[in-house]
Amino acid sequence: LEILLKGLRRLEYRGYDSAGVGIDAGNGKDWESNAKTIQLIKQRGKVKVLDEEINKQQDMDMDVEFDVHLGIAHTRWATHGEPSPLNSHPHRSDKNNEFIIIHNGIVTNYKDLRKFLESKGYEFESETDTETIAKLVKYMYDNRESDDINFATLVERVTHNMKNVFVCVLCRRGSPLLIGVRSDHKLSTDHIPVLYRSCSYNFSGKDKKSCNALPRMDQDTCLFPVDEKAVEYYFASDASAVIEHTNRVIFLEDDDVAAVMDGRLSIHRIKRRAGDYSARAIQTLQMELQQIMKGNYSSFMQKEIFEQPESVVNTMRGRVNFDNNTVTLGGLKDHIKEIQRCRRLILIACGTSYHAGVATRQVLEELTELPVMVELASDFLDRNTPVFRDDVCFFISQSGETADSLMALRYCKERGALTVGVTNTVGSSISRETDCGVHINAGPEVGVASTKAYTSQFVALIMFALLMCDDRISVQPRRREIIQGLRVLPDLIKEVLSLDDEIQKLATELYQQKSVLIMGRGYHYATCLEGALKIKEITYMHSEGILAGELKHGPLALVDKLMPVIMIIMRDHTYIKCQNALQQVVARQGRPIVICDKDDYETIKNSSRTIKVPHCVDCLQGILSVIPLQLLSFHLAVLRGYDVDCPRNLAKSVTVE
Ligand code: F6R
Repeated sequence: LEILLKGLRRLEYRGYDSAGVGIDAGNGKDWESNAKTIQLIKQRGKVKVLDEEINKQQDMDMDVEFDVHLGIAHTRWATHGEPSPLNSHPHRSDKNNEFIIIHNGIVTNYKDLRKFLESKGYEFESETDTETIAKLVKYMYDNRESDDINFATLVERVTHNMKNVFVCVLCRRGSPLLIGVRSDHKLSTDHIPVLYRSCSYNFSGKDKKSCNALPRMDQDTCLFPVDEKAVEYYFASDASAVIEHTNRVIFLEDDDVAAVMDGRLSIHRIKRRAGDYSARAIQTLQMELQQIMKGNYSSFMQKEIFEQPESVVNTMRGRVNFDNNTVTLGGLKDHIKEIQRCRRLILIACGTSYHAGVATRQVLEELTELPVMVELASDFLDRNTPVFRDDVCFFISQSGETADSLMALRYCKERGALTVGVTNTVGSSISRETDCGVHINAGPEVGVASTKAYTSQFVALIMFALLMCDDRISVQPRRREIIQGLRVLPDLIKEVLSLDDEIQKLATELYQQKSVLIMGRGYHYATCLEGALKIKEITYMHSEGILAGELKHGPLALVDKLMPVIMIIMRDHTYIKCQNALQQVVARQGRPIVICDKDDYETIKNSSRTIKVPHCVDCLQGILSVIPLQLLSFHLAVLRGYDVDCPRNLAKSVTVE
C-alpha cells in the first residue's frame, strides 16, 4: 500500500482532484474468494486526503491491511462526473468488488454501453465513463461460454466492445502504460517476446489443464522464470511513479495486454498489425529520483525555473560544438537531407509547446528559407488541414503524450509527411511514433506550469535551424553569432534569475489586480503569449498576450491608468515600433512595466518602471525575456495563496482530446 501511495504522490501532477486505491487484503491465493476481500478506499481531493483516510481507518482498526499482495491506485483528473469519492477510481463491477478497474482516458461510447448494461439489471454508482468497463467485464464474465476463460481473454473481449478506450489495467490503448521491472538478480533476457494469442492468465486458477493452452512460460516467453519473488513488476502511466523502485522499464504499445502470473510476465496482442515488433525491450531510464524531488525549493515550478541554466546546457550537451561552430543532432542525422528538400515545415503543438514554435518560427524561416507554419494541434485537426508527402511536420511536446498532438501526428503520418518529435520524455508515444526527432533532455518537469521545457524546446528548435543551414556559406556569420549566443546563454539566464527579489517585490504590488496585459512584437510575441498563459494558469488572474502591432486595432481600448500593462522592448529590428507602442500606451495614461535591455537607457528613461535583462543575440533574447514572467507568475500565485504546482482544473499531461 505504501508503494501505491508513493507512486500516486509522484503521479499527482497528472491529475489531483480525487484519488483512490483498491487492495487485495487477502493472502492472494485464490481469486474467486479473494474477490470478497478486495477493499476500496477513495477520497475527493489530493493524495494527502486519501493518505489521511487510510491512516484513520488503520487507527480505528478497520481491517486495512498494509502488507498487501496486490493493488491498484489512481489519481484522477475529472472528465465525466465531478470530483467525488463515488466518481473516483477504482470502479467496481458489483458490491462484492469482484472486478475493480482504474482507467486513463475516455470511453466515448459509454452512454450506449451504460444503457445496455442497465437494461440487463446492472446498477451504476457513479457518473463516470469508466464504471461501464467494470460492469462490462462482469457481464462478459457472467455470460461466458466456457469456464476456462482466462483473464487476458476477458480483457480483450471487453476492449473490443469499447470505442476509444485508452488504458485498461494491463491493457494499453492510446495513453501511456509502462511496466517497471525490478530484480536483485540479473534478468535472463532484455526483451519480452510478444505473443499473438490470448493466453497467460488462467482466470479461475482452478482448471490447471487449461494451462496447456497457455504459451510456454519458460526462458523464451517470460522474464525471470526461476523464483516468483525475484522480480517485482510495477504498472504505471508514468515513469516517475516507479523510478524509486527501478529504472528498468518496458513501454507497452497500443493494444498490448500484459499479464503477470506467478511472478512471470507475458505480453500479448489482440491483433497483429503490419510492422509490429515481435518483442518489447526492457529499457534503462536515465531519470534519477532526485530529479523528481523538490529539494530546497517550495514548489517544483520554482525549482524548475531555477534549473534553467543547467537544463539548457543539457539540451545542448554533446550537440553544439562552440569551438568549431557545428551542431549535431543524432536523432535527425538520417533524415536531414530529406528535411532540407521539403516543401514546408509545420510545427504542431499545444499550450506552452505551441509557444516554443511561435518563438522560433522567425529564425527557422530565416535559416531554412522554407515556409514555416505553426499550428495548435486541436485547430489543425478541426480544419482538416491539407498535408502533403513533401511536408515535414514537427510535434513539440514536453510529455510526448498530449492527445491532440498525438492525433495530429497520426493524421500527418497517414498523409505521408515526414514526422519529427521534439519531446522531453524518452519512450513517450510521440517520440516512438515519429520518424525521427530530438529529445530536449531538460530532465523531468513536474510542475504543471511548464517552464524549463519551454526554454529547452526553444534551444532545440534553434539547434535544428542551425543544422539545416550548416553548409550555406552566406549564413555562416549569422550561424556563428547564434552559436556564440548559445555559449553564453546559461550565464545570462543566471543573471536574469538574480532579479528574483526585484520581481517578488513587483508581485506584491500587482497580486490584488484582476488583469494583466502583456505586449510585445517580433521575437517577443511568443513571450507575451507564454507569460500570459503562465499568469492565468497558476494565479487565475485574467491575462492576455497582445501583439503590439495590433494595439491600435482594438486592445488599446483596454488601456487606462488602472490597467496593469507589461511591455517587452528589446533592441532588435522591431525596437522603433515598440517605442511607438510604448508612447501610445503612455499617452492613454498607462504606466507600463517594461522588460528591456539593461543598457537601453532610452527606454529606461521613458518608462516609469523597468525590469532590466542582459542583452543577447536577437533570436535567443526570448529565452531571457520569458524568465521574468515565469518568476512573476510564480510569486503572484504564492501571494494569492494558490498551490503553484497543482493549479485548479489542470493536469500535467493531457491524454484526452
Ligand atoms: C502550460 C502547459 C500546457 C502544456 C500543454 C502541452 O504551462 O504546461 O499548456 O504546454 O498542455 O503539453 P505537452 O508539451 O506535454 O504536449
